[in-house]
Amino acid sequence: MAVLETIRNFFLPALFAEPEEIVPAPPTTYEIRPLTMDQLAEVLRLNIRCFRNGDNYTKHTFDYLLNEPRTLSYRMVTPRDEIVGFAFVMVNENNAAHLTTIGVAPEHRRRRIAERLLEQVESALKAREVGTILLEVRVGNEPAQNLYRRCGYIVVQRITKYYSNGEDCFLMMKSLY
Ligand SMILES: CC(C)(COP(=O)(O)OP(=O)(O)OC[C@H]1O[C@@H](n2cnc3c(N)ncnc32)[C@H](O)[C@@H]1OP(=O)(O)O)[C@@H](O)C(=O)NCCC(=O)NCCS
Repeated sequence: MAVLETIRNFFLPALFAEPEEIVPAPPTTYEIRPLTMDQLAEVLRLNIRCFRNGDNYTKHTFDYLLNEPRTLSYRMVTPRDEIVGFAFVMVNENNAAHLTTIGVAPEHRRRRIAERLLEQVESALKAREVGTILLEVRVGNEPAQNLYRRCGYIVVQRITKYYSNGEDCFLMMKSLY
């Protein structure tokens, strides 16, 4: 049984993960740093905790993104250098960028970590003269939609059945000029 469990978790870690009991972390300070291949294992673990619905990226995807020169990636860390948030954005050829993923550890949420990560991403894009940032969000993901709206993103399109379970997404955009 242990072998079967291991194989199952290897392929579908997030879908089968037991619900977590979330205890808010004690107050602390946070700092943004670049996210590199050195943090691959840690960010992979955190992304599984952030996306328990199966939207988590695989090791292969993070590997690709972290080795792709068009990707900018940041982590938010505690004073003990523990990653509690991450954001990845990819710059396209057409003067636009795409927010590929953003997540915050459940016990550190509602502390402006995602907002600060978005600000960091946006200022790095502006420095590269990128004019627009785009993202997709599930129509059912209200926390993320609230975050993006608060940060100045607007819905430009609803794309039907965008996700494999048939859920629609909102395409959201922000002009950086
Ligand atoms: C969405 C997510 C990244 C927000 O991270 P966070 O660090 O808690 O967000 P912030 O503290 O920066 O929130 C800023 C604002 O966003 C909105 N917001 C964030 N979480 C919210 C929630 N659970 N419910 C309602 N609004 C929320 C609020 O307007 C909030 O401001 P407020 O706290 O003053 O009300 C986090 O909940 C997460 O990791 N979710 C799972 C992964 C995910 O869905 N990623 C986005 C995929 S498109």
